[in-house]
Amino acid sequence: MLCAEQLGLGRGERMIVDGVGFEIEPGSALQIHGSNGCGKTTLLRALAGLLPPAAGSVRWRGMNVQAQPERFRRERAYVGHSNGLSDDLSVLENLRFAALLGVNPGGLGDARLHERDVLEIAGLWPLRQVRVGSLSQGQRRRVALARVMLERKPLWLLDEPAEALDDAAQAWLCDALDDHMQDGGIVVATTHLPLPTAVTCTHHLQLEGGAS
Ligand SMILES: Nc1ncnc2c1ncn2[C@@H]1O[C@H](COP(=O)(O)OP(=O)(O)OP(=O)(O)O)[C@@H](O)[C@H]1O
Ligand SMILES: [Mg+2]
Repeated sequence: MLCAEQLGLGRGERMIVDGVGFEIEPGSALQIHGSNGCGKTTLLRALAGLLPPAAGSVRWRGMNVQAQPERFRRERAYVGHSNGLSDDLSVLENLRFAALLGVNPGGLGDARLHERDVLEIAGLWPLRQVRVGSLSQGQRRRVALARVMLERKPLWLLDEPAEALDDAAQAWLCDALDDHMQDGGIVVATTHLPLPTAVTCTHHLQLEGGAS
């Protein structure tokens, strides 16, 4: 379970998020909505353990994520606005580099889900030897999401995951999110447009403030 308690998040002198709390059970998703600048990315970074809260706490399986950052990182996947890929490496090298770093420890889901299957479904197999730096924005996004799917960590934290994706890739993403939830995983995604993930296990949080 992922749990935020009375979370207060500041940037510089300013409080961006104040008094936010929720619990997300395994097998469900939280979509975070709100206008530009309202704090969606700030909140997601705090959930990822990348931004210490000014108040309150984030707990993953009962553990304060600030207390055991290494262990938490092994269990959560985070994709930010920038995709966290190496431009000079090929698509395959990026995926295998992540595996070499030990981020594919045999977590949730179908162990038969192999690199080639994921790349083919993502439409990336023909591009597997291409340098990531020469891919389009949407193609890079696909690589970053394919990496998350291969890592099979239980907690996915995704900042605008559908950004730059075409219709086919958005459908692929939503199927993957639903599969992850069916496997008992948790998804937290910021998004401007609601993602059509399974209604019964998808919750929504509207942040206030930011640009109007
Ligand atoms: N590194 C930073 N230093 C100082 N202020 C920041 C920093 N990053 C973001 N902010 C401020 O924090 C506020 C929230 O930013 P955040 O990126 O969380 O918004 P967002 O809801 O994700 O917006 P968007 O929809 O544009 O992605 C904004 O007012 C922004 O100016
Ligand atoms: Mg943002």
